Amino acid sequence: MTDKVNESRRNLLISTSIVGVVGAAFAAVPFIKSWMPSERAKSAGGPVGADISKLDMGQKLDVSWRGQPIFIVKREEKQLATLPGIKDRLKDPDSENSIQPEFAKNLHRSQKEELLVMVGICTHLGCSPKFYPEIVPQVFDSQWRGGFYCPCHNSKFDISGRVYSGSPAGTNLVIPPYVFVDENNLIIGIDKLEGEA
Ligand code: FES
Repeated sequence: MTDKVNESRRNLLISTSIVGVVGAAFAAVPFIKSWMPSERAKSAGGPVGADISKLDMGQKLDVSWRGQPIFIVKREEKQLATLPGIKDRLKDPDSENSIQPEFAKNLHRSQKEELLVMVGICTHLGCSPKFYPEIVPQVFDSQWRGGFYCPCHNSKFDISGRVYSGSPAGTNLVIPPYVFVDENNLIIGIDKLEGEA
């Protein structure tokens, strides 16, 4: 099984044109550089690679995929701990009516619990929500538990992108397909590597 996965990763790195690399440069592993985007692939709106090796706890990294911002957030324990307790303040706490891959239909809405990968476009009318990670009262919410706030028409989302009741946005922020190549690199736009079942 491990051999199969390794082989599929190798195949992918050799053969796939991956668009866009954000963050710090990829480590000096020559074959990882083969993900580097070609301009042709970029304009075609293909997958993008993201290097999260420099992303610290609590930080957000922005990546562009298909002309949309993708927010990658490494969430702290205290932020993850807020998730169960605010369910009754949310419109779609279990993400039943929202868009995400099957692997992200869970409390943290992600593959790895701490790492959120999410489309940074408000599900109301398409503004980009702002990141308010601190668990402190805000002018728009005296009970704020950290998350995202869209100032266009006051939609609020928790640190998993779940929309608060009373927001004009109807559904949670979208989770795109993505897959990890290794501990520090992921690809946004596909949910499995070539050859994986
Ligand atoms: S576009 Fe975000 S609340 Fe309207």
